[in-house]
Amino acid sequence: MNPTPSGKATLDLHRGAPVELPLVEGSEGETAIDITTLRKSTGAITLDYGYLNTGSCASAITFLDGERGILRYRGYPVEELAEKSRFVEVAYLLINGKMPDKRERAEWSLLLNRHSMFHEDMRHFFYRFPDQAHPMAILSAMVVSLSAFYPELSQHHDDRSEEAINIAATRLLSKVRTIAAFSYKKSIGEPFVYPRHDLRYCANFLNMMFHSPVNPYEIHPEVVKALNVLLIMHADHEQNCSTSAVRLVGSARVNLYAAVSAGICALWGPLHGGANQMAIEMLEEMQARGETPRQLIERVKNSKGQTLLYGFGHRVYKQYDPRAKVIKATCDRVLKALDIRDPLLDLALELEALALKDEYFIARNLYPNVDFYSGIIYRAIGIPKDMFTVMFALGRLPGWIAHWKESHEDPRFKLQRPRQIYVGPSLRHLTPSQYSSEYTRSPGAPVARPPSTHA
Ligand code: ACO
Repeated sequence: MNPTPSGKATLDLHRGAPVELPLVEGSEGETAIDITTLRKSTGAITLDYGYLNTGSCASAITFLDGERGILRYRGYPVEELAEKSRFVEVAYLLINGKMPDKRERAEWSLLLNRHSMFHEDMRHFFYRFPDQAHPMAILSAMVVSLSAFYPELSQHHDDRSEEAINIAATRLLSKVRTIAAFSYKKSIGEPFVYPRHDLRYCANFLNMMFHSPVNPYEIHPEVVKALNVLLIMHADHEQNCSTSAVRLVGSARVNLYAAVSAGICALWGPLHGGANQMAIEMLEEMQARGETPRQLIERVKNSKGQTLLYGFGHRVYKQYDPRAKVIKATCDRVLKALDIRDPLLDLALELEALALKDEYFIARNLYPNVDFYSGIIYRAIGIPKDMFTVMFALGRLPGWIAHWKESHEDPRFKLQRPRQIYVGPSLRHLTPSQYSSEYTRSPGAPVARPPSTHA
């Protein structure tokens, strides 16, 4: 789908005649200057650190308005999806552009079940990772390894048919859940629990995580609901860092698994998906040190950007993150259902209340983001801290797949290759003293040979 032409912008570089550039508009009225021909017509490029003003593509997947706190997947508000649908249906919606009907839902569930196991040889990989390996390292490595075991979509094969892509997508959705649960079991030294076809996606995941031969896991419907909500809230967020990584790496025409593995690596960073782990660690440290929320707020403010309030702030949201609202309500519900009183929640609530009234945070539009309360739910469910970002990855997977698919189907598909403004030294030459030794021997001198290893 193309953005609609909506006028012209005139750019005067004062180097000859001004140039006209087309203005285009998206379906929600956002405007862009289309600079596709800029360099060709003026010789200039744009410079935009961190891409604060740069649209990398037109996309029909997610609409996000950070000023008004709106997030919609394929037009549906996330709040409505969280209340009335399950994660796998939202995954279908993101990837296929429509909610599944009854038949499609049944087929989708069947496919997800069918692909939930992975090649038995891949199971051995888990035993080769050190005990302390971060599950995100394991997850990214295992996901790229899928391309070795299931090469149908590799760059050496041209089968990019709808069917091949759908199979790769369901395979990923289903297997990543199994990989995530297996990496947890490996980290605690318990036997792997295989997926069960009689359980739905989230219940199946919880069972693989927490069932053990000596302690059967009881699936609590409120926990299943909470997990569905969390995964839906994470399912897509337009051109964020990890999704842009998937699109950029995918633009070299690597296979879906390799592109998603790049997204997982990007998500791991503490400024992105890694913030959910950082937010809980921050609360735990406060508790251990006996630091009050007010003291932490003061420490953050006095640190000149060196100490962050993790789970706060967002590149796009300049008001309350709509996902954080839904997650906060889910947090209340799940703690109540499980009859848990978590002192970290009290700290988080107090921190939020103080920050929202504080001039430093108000002036910078810093509000809780998706990562502020999600960790408290994960703790209540029993998911350990270093698995938090894995949970985020599980949720973001349909978004990554949808963007990979959309970019490959786009007739304007291009290798993504930004330019730069070079600010290094101008042309210079090596002086003789900088030459490598093999280029400095005098003519006719014997060539130095490495010492012989033979006696
Ligand atoms: N705590 C304290 N100060 C902050 C925070 C924070 N969490 N976030 C931003 N600021 C301050 C910055 O120090 C800066 O202050 P200054 O103007 O005095 O220099 C100002 O607010 C603007 O911050 P930037 O980093 O320029 O804003 P940007 O849009 O680039 O950053 C980001 C967004 C990276 C998310 C930032 O808010 C942050 O680091 N937050 C903490 C990490 C986090 O929670 N990340 C998860 C984001 S959601 C997600 O990716 C899933």
